[in-house]
Amino acid sequence: MSTPRRLLAAGFAATLTAFLPAAATAQGNLTVYCSVQEEWCRPMMQAFERATGVRVAMTRKSSGETLTQIRAEAANPRGDVWWGGTGDPHMQAGEENLTAEYQSPRMSELHDWATRQAQQARFRTVGIYAGALGYSYSAPELARRRIAAPTCWADLAKPEFRGEIQVADPNTSGTAYTMLATLIQVLGEEPAFTYLRALHRNVNQYTRSGAAPARAAATGETLVGITFLHDAVAQKVNGAPVEIVAPCEGTGYEIGSMSIIRGARNMENAQRFYDWALSPEAQGLAGPANAYQLPSNRTAPIPPQAPRFENIRLIDYDFARWGSAAERTRVITRWEREVRAGAR
Ligand code: G6P
Repeated sequence: MSTPRRLLAAGFAATLTAFLPAAATAQGNLTVYCSVQEEWCRPMMQAFERATGVRVAMTRKSSGETLTQIRAEAANPRGDVWWGGTGDPHMQAGEENLTAEYQSPRMSELHDWATRQAQQARFRTVGIYAGALGYSYSAPELARRRIAAPTCWADLAKPEFRGEIQVADPNTSGTAYTMLATLIQVLGEEPAFTYLRALHRNVNQYTRSGAAPARAAATGETLVGITFLHDAVAQKVNGAPVEIVAPCEGTGYEIGSMSIIRGARNMENAQRFYDWALSPEAQGLAGPANAYQLPSNRTAPIPPQAPRFENIRLIDYDFARWGSAAERTRVITRWEREVRAGAR
């Protein structure tokens, strides 16, 4: 480049910088892997950008997929924070040394279930929300088929539901893994696998993402969708003609979690995001974003539509066991071999 052109280019760059918002240039960047629904990921990142001037690059992937990605990138981490998604794969990431220990000054503001999750993971993750598992069905489709309303897990294995049920794949989806672990805890492992084989005959599709079956039940594309109850509530709030069921035998729940990726390039901003995401203000963004989980900060507003744990028969989900790498891998492998590989 000749000297005058180089000078011109330098001048142009200087002018550009002058027009960028000062905070954005000064505060740097952050890469977030988001495992809740996109509808909630986006406003969260925008609010953090507005509050801090940090520029966020966000990608949405399901919980199991994110764990796989972080593991694949371990030698050269590209992400800084993993925000949202079920707790079990976050626990596994901690055990595999893929995530970094951090104790936020906001820890004391959280519910016991959220801090217990952090303690069990040696502070490599923390609870940010909770939600119970269940299913929803399309009321008009049920009436059209003249099938009695299901109320239990057992109902979904009945022959009249053949090809009528949608649930995610536990390899990619934390929701689907929560279902496997829940059924084993409710029924015992052998009866749970007998049940899952019967359910498999009734499944029309295993989706990648956990909340997709709730959307399919909302449009009547499937009769029943197994998801977290709050994902079905999101559809109902939007006007979908669905009924929501907390299964009669009892059900499990997730502690949606957040972790900092080991070797994060933007460690300081990662911790800044982490502290901010535990604040009541940040957690209060859920309801307006159509997300109806229970927030982990004790003073965060609970959306009025959120399914309340007092009204659900909940099991005492063993997060330490089901979040361990050995159990998660063993159960998913067994499901692949004994359930997924079977004929429908
Ligand atoms: C939905 C739910 C979240 C849950 C997440 C898990 O977004 O609203 O509460 O943590 O699914 O996603 P996955 O696709 O991994 O099942």
